[in-house]
Amino acid sequence: MPKERYLITSALPYANGPIHIGHLAGAYLPADIYARYCRLQDRETLYICGSDEHGVPITIKAEKEGVAPQEIVDEYHTRNKKAFEAFGIHFDNYSRTSLDIHHKTAQDFFTKLYEEGVFKKKTEEQLYDENKQMFLPDRYVMGECPRCSYEEAYGDQCEQCGASLSPMELINPKSALTGSTPVVKKTTHWYLPLGDLQDELEDWILPKNDEWKSNVYAQVKGWLEQKLSDRAVTRDLSWGVKVPLEEAKDKVLYVWFDAPIGYISSTKEWAEQQGDPDLWKKYWQSKDTHLIHFIGKDNIVFHCLIFPAMLMAHGDYVLPENVPANEFLNLKGLKFSTSRNIAVWLDDYLEEFPPDPLRYALASTLPELRDTDFSWEDFQSRNNNELADIVGNFINRALQFAHKYFDGKVPEPGEAGEMENDLVQALKNAGKEIGESFDKFRFRDGVRAFMMAGKAANKYFNDKEPWKTRKDDIRDCATAIYYSIQTAKALAVYMYPIMPFSAERIWKMLNLDSSVEEQKWERAAVFTIEPGHVLNDPEILFEKYDDDVIQKQIEKLQSRIVEPAEEEDMDYTPPPVKEEISFDDFQDLDLRVALVKEAAAIPKADKLLKLQIDLGSETRQIVAGIAKRFDPGELVGRRIIVVANLAPATLMGEKSEGMLLAAEGDDQFGLLTVPDDLPTGSPIR
Ligand code: MF3
Ligand code: ZN
Repeated sequence: MPKERYLITSALPYANGPIHIGHLAGAYLPADIYARYCRLQDRETLYICGSDEHGVPITIKAEKEGVAPQEIVDEYHTRNKKAFEAFGIHFDNYSRTSLDIHHKTAQDFFTKLYEEGVFKKKTEEQLYDENKQMFLPDRYVMGECPRCSYEEAYGDQCEQCGASLSPMELINPKSALTGSTPVVKKTTHWYLPLGDLQDELEDWILPKNDEWKSNVYAQVKGWLEQKLSDRAVTRDLSWGVKVPLEEAKDKVLYVWFDAPIGYISSTKEWAEQQGDPDLWKKYWQSKDTHLIHFIGKDNIVFHCLIFPAMLMAHGDYVLPENVPANEFLNLKGLKFSTSRNIAVWLDDYLEEFPPDPLRYALASTLPELRDTDFSWEDFQSRNNNELADIVGNFINRALQFAHKYFDGKVPEPGEAGEMENDLVQALKNAGKEIGESFDKFRFRDGVRAFMMAGKAANKYFNDKEPWKTRKDDIRDCATAIYYSIQTAKALAVYMYPIMPFSAERIWKMLNLDSSVEEQKWERAAVFTIEPGHVLNDPEILFEKYDDDVIQKQIEKLQSRIVEPAEEEDMDYTPPPVKEEISFDDFQDLDLRVALVKEAAAIPKADKLLKLQIDLGSETRQIVAGIAKRFDPGELVGRRIIVVANLAPATLMGEKSEGMLLAAEGDDQFGLLTVPDDLPTGSPIR
């Protein structure tokens, strides 16, 4: 049987800044786990990435620092490539979009669509900075968001409400370069007619309801419901891929047109490195390739609608099979912010710690369906209480014991008993469960299943009490050590996608041939280490981190935060407390934990969203005035608190049976939520 072919991509990061752990948790760590797992499953696997070196964020940074854009991208491309490598994010190729091979690939792609008559050419009014004598596309202009009134929205997107915008929509626009008020001037651009492709996109995407993650599907459905509109794919800028048309010599391709083509050019570059320049076609131009894009939620529209539309219009390419986008990872309730320096930078981390504890901590809290928090305290407890105390402790004890009492060799086992059978069963089940979770892009579940296997191993060792049987039942003692050594091997294979460095270290300690990378998932729990096999000296697998080490990191994080307007919060005057009520009045309120199953806009009611919520015993619809605060997609999967016994009401023709709880400051707003493990329907008292 031919091998299944997997083409895995991670979003090409902009080469205008270093990588932080929010990036890792979004698009890189899950993809790397998946690619490593696919290889152990003997699938033909290619994992592709590279630097996104065009786009306005890069030229603005260059402008601010008074250097050429090429200087910025050279610096960060090299730095990020190195950091990914050191963290074990193992791309088959990490390319960059400033290479000739990319410019040519992107131009050929454009030319093909142009010749097929796909684009619409339009002359429209755009903002123009007269001081700088240039048009102001995308992030070159800032102003008030027409949706949420946030005053620092960009020309392409509002970071407060997530709305995607065009510069002409901004209220009070200002040039990001000079601060001046732009004028309006006509210019010609080529548009991708997404509206015309709507039906084709729907036919392709709507049946994916069961396979795609709910957070991704809900967002895509939201876009489709709003109806897609034409998108300009050219820009009046000089930094980028030149538009291959005589009449557009001074224009470049829109960065979101060229960047995803970067996946293709990176694959081409890889094929050339393999000495077989056509090899990329097997991946991109075969219908049976499983193409999987790993991204963060801010990239969903580009990977689920715009790039697929480009691929469809082109016709020669495979479409993505899945886009397992993650939500955002926050820092204990803070949003990562490069400008405020709220981040844990990968470079910094790697100067002080090895990669695997962070890989494990992040993989355990990936924002798979909703935003999650990273904290150094959680990192510490996962490292100390799980990695060191459970997995590391087990491996170390088993190997130490073999060295002390069996000459550093695997002993000949006696008869297997119930405990041995249970252990073998636990290992087999773990392999199945971890694998199934990874295949469904539920990496957290996979990590949990791995740790359960670690616990089973540790428990086996404790229950066998080899330190006692050593004196009165040496055969049973030998059995315990034999089984423990085979288990260590199985754990090495299971941990490899998550913690490749530690897995290979276990392999060395076990003195086994080749590497974990070369193993097969299916054979992880097969006992292949013969009695008499000589083991290497054990080393400590995971070092524990004391409070002072962690405290230093917390202080470092806090001390670097650039506080913009600290007083704002202090100015807040809470409203007076309401009149007293009796305990009985309070008891009459029925507050419950509810799970948001669906969320949708209500036509003509721009403040309202309707939510289908699961109360455990029933599903209901509620209408809430939170449309300005949330995109429907980001609500699905959240656990909220609702008043369950409120008299029903009808709002804008929609029935509302209940009310959700939220906290509101002057302009701050937060939905009340509860920990994940509380069942839906739980009462709140
Ligand atoms: N550079 C973009 C970002 O960081 C991602 C580009 S993904 C690609 O948001 F598909 F366009 F390559
Ligand atoms: Zn907004």
